[in-house]
Amino acid sequence: MDKKKLQDQVAIVTGASSGIGAGIARALAREGARVVVNYSSSPDKAAEVLKEIHDGGGEGFTMKANVSREEDVQAMFAETIKRYGTVDILINNAGLQKDARFHEMTLEEWNQVIGINLTGQFLCAREAVKEFMRRGLVPERSKSVGKIICISSVHEVIPWAGHANYAASKGGVMMLMKTIAQEYAPQKIRINSIGPGAIRTPINYAAWQTPQAYNQLLKLIPAKRIGETEDVNGAAVWLASDDSEYVNGITLFVDGGMLLYPGFEDNG
Ligand code: BGC
Repeated sequence: MDKKKLQDQVAIVTGASSGIGAGIARALAREGARVVVNYSSSPDKAAEVLKEIHDGGGEGFTMKANVSREEDVQAMFAETIKRYGTVDILINNAGLQKDARFHEMTLEEWNQVIGINLTGQFLCAREAVKEFMRRGLVPERSKSVGKIICISSVHEVIPWAGHANYAASKGGVMMLMKTIAQEYAPQKIRINSIGPGAIRTPINYAAWQTPQAYNQLLKLIPAKRIGETEDVNGAAVWLASDDSEYVNGITLFVDGGMLLYPGFEDNG
């Protein structure tokens, strides 16, 4: 049998108790990775994801950490290294929305979104890079010293009224990703992003829960369907594997064409 694409590699997936993170955690485990299922407030849902990983013959553990807290992030990396020896892959996924009209947005709403979506990605990426450099290349595991995949959004480029904190966080993730990709490429560390469009998860429940909302949403999606979390998994496995060894500093959009200016389909 062919060796699995991520055999024996160790992956931390932040925000893995639901949505896109849960899907990616299961997909990496199917490819042979040992997966740390990180969560911040839903231990039961994280345990379910881990159970599915175990049921599929995979390995991993759940770990509580709020990614916006330096001590939590450091404890999560320390525990992972204690149990599995190192970290090969970081999926920087944890994220949230706190939507408000800009002139009504509280500092708390701003700080919470920037804290989890951007500072959280900074803190986790920094610990990952430190560990990658400490360990160095292990050629029988991967051609790269380490891989980081930032879960960004189409809103790293599409402005989004009513979501200034979220759009600013994802624009920040884009430049964080590109800058550290440039900085550590010589060390064989690869950092890329996935930019999902509308994927059916709890974060955008309001956009697909009623037929009216769903029909509105479809106007923004040339593919004429909402994405499912499974649509994102292949991109994550590919960016984490040696199949993408020469790919560094990109955002791979998985959006059904949302970035294609769908308003121009029958206009302009
Ligand atoms: C947001 C979703 C939204 C999608 C497309 C995502 O980043 O979290 O709420 O549906 O972008 O606009």
